[in-house]
Amino acid sequence: MPKKLRKAVFPVAGLGTRFLPATKALAKEMLPVVDKPLIQYAVEEARAAGIEQFCFVTGRGKTALVEHFDIAFELEVMLRERNRTKELAELEAMRIEPGSLLSVRQQVPHGLGHAIWCARAFIADEPFAVLLPDDLILSETPCLKQLADVYAHTGGNVVAVVDVPREHTNRYGIVKTGADDGRLVEVLGLVEKPTPHQAPSTLSIIGRYVLMPEVIAHLAKMERGAGGEIQLTDGMAKLIGQQPFHGLRYEGRRFDCGNKVGYLEAQIAFALKRPDLADAVRGFLKQYL
Ligand code: UTP
Repeated sequence: MPKKLRKAVFPVAGLGTRFLPATKALAKEMLPVVDKPLIQYAVEEARAAGIEQFCFVTGRGKTALVEHFDIAFELEVMLRERNRTKELAELEAMRIEPGSLLSVRQQVPHGLGHAIWCARAFIADEPFAVLLPDDLILSETPCLKQLADVYAHTGGNVVAVVDVPREHTNRYGIVKTGADDGRLVEVLGLVEKPTPHQAPSTLSIIGRYVLMPEVIAHLAKMERGAGGEIQLTDGMAKLIGQQPFHGLRYEGRRFDCGNKVGYLEAQIAFALKRPDLADAVRGFLKQYL
């Protein structure tokens, strides 16, 4: 039986330069889709997968991310006085258990691999999930739950994968595939941002992972990869052959909210799923098309 998956790391120390000026003083992960910040979607997804302990890897100007999951005492008193029970219940439900959220500072954004290494004391010797909040996924079963269910059978590392157009391989970590049943893929190799010509497949990793703690020792070597950054993909690649490593073609639709078009598309897709908004949104969209 694989060890229970209880911990999740949320790397949120990036600069969000593709979203400037919005992200000059505001963390990218606090940008809302409809009425919820990206970080909240990610935390809710982690909870739905059974995660009990949360670690945000943050940087300067990111304190709002931690505040968002705390008690807002005055606000909640005011809502109670005004009988705003629905809003109050929503705020209470989204709180993280006392003592279950911690944040560590990355100090300098040296890359995703470095961000994960910064959470090493939190991870200790346990399997852990990684969620990148700017990858937002609309699905029946939350994406991390899909990965956790696979992990419970296979053990080892499990990453969410999706096919991308060959001309886009230089934006993602790409998998060299082994046995493939159409859903679960054996990972034989990983390359970060290969050119379309060099890419071993068109199967890309998205921002949901279940990883084994042994990856930390590889990241600790601080080897720089694509873009001069310490890449998580390079650390993960070192685990292949040592431990089970699978990619899961998850069910659902991913929106890359780190770029403007993906973010705008997410707003529409999520709004159309909301019974209180769908008709109004459909109505005004028709006027623009
Ligand atoms: P991105 O590649 O989207 O980088 O990081 P970014 O800095 O957030 O945004 P741009 O490219 O400048 O617009 C993917 C995820 O990894 C985190 C980011 O916060 C984001 O969730 N990250 C990246 C870190 O936590 N630290 C890093 O050093 C790099």
